[in-house]
Amino acid sequence: MKNNKTKQKPRVVTTKTVLKMKQTGEKISMLTGYDFLVAKYLDEVGIDIILVGDSLGNVVQGYETTLPVTVDDMIYHAKAVKRAVKNALIVVDMPFMSFQTSTDDAVRNAGRIMKEVGVGAVKLEGGAYIADIVRHLVKVGIPVMGHLGLTPQAINKFGTYEVRATDDAEAEELVNDAKVLAEAGVFAIVLEKIPSELAKRVTDSIPVPTIGIGAGTDCDGQVLVVYDMLGLTEEFKPRFVRRYAELANVMRGAFKQYIDDVKSQKFPSDKESY
Ligand code: KIV
Repeated sequence: MKNNKTKQKPRVVTTKTVLKMKQTGEKISMLTGYDFLVAKYLDEVGIDIILVGDSLGNVVQGYETTLPVTVDDMIYHAKAVKRAVKNALIVVDMPFMSFQTSTDDAVRNAGRIMKEVGVGAVKLEGGAYIADIVRHLVKVGIPVMGHLGLTPQAINKFGTYEVRATDDAEAEELVNDAKVLAEAGVFAIVLEKIPSELAKRVTDSIPVPTIGIGAGTDCDGQVLVVYDMLGLTEEFKPRFVRRYAELANVMRGAFKQYIDDVKSQKFPSDKESY
């Protein structure tokens, strides 16, 4: 007998898919990814968006801030991710000073990322003051994700990584920023570390999806740094990070066992030799 069950093809996620998910109420899942294997596993299990975040400056390169990350660094990591991914939308962060200097620089650097890697979109931190840059990028065919609230590239202005927009003035400014960015053409906006109520207000006020990190339950999607949710960044414990694994312990245990096995000549065995 013929099996009538047809296997559903995995969905290829585009910026249009993401917009549709807001309209249908389907929550958007996003995690960061910086290398081939992690990106492969994320894609295999159906993540919607992989963000090649400039957080790679902290978790891969070991810098204190994201400021030293370069466009070349982003392209290097995004190429590795791209080789692994079949279905997820890949978004690449525009690093500090790669777009803030002028619209020309923004187009040149975002253009390099799109052309040399072949990803779906770029992400820019900043409010209404970058609207002209966003408008221009979108006009030339480069989809843009916005990023408001705690924007780590502005750490020297903020002075801390504490919750943003807790006072009325900053909250009003953030709502206005979100509206202006949506009008300028972003297809989604990351909201980082802001009060849940404010995130809900923004989410209800704009036609494009919000993706929260430390911004409560009412955003259209959620994002975490993959090394945080895997328990690799052990000492980083803000309340918005849920640890889905404790990989630092697993890795240390494996490394220790390996060292012991080499020292005691238990590795390699005859079976592991030629
Ligand atoms: O760089 C990054 O990983 C990010 C996320 C925290 C949203 O911008």
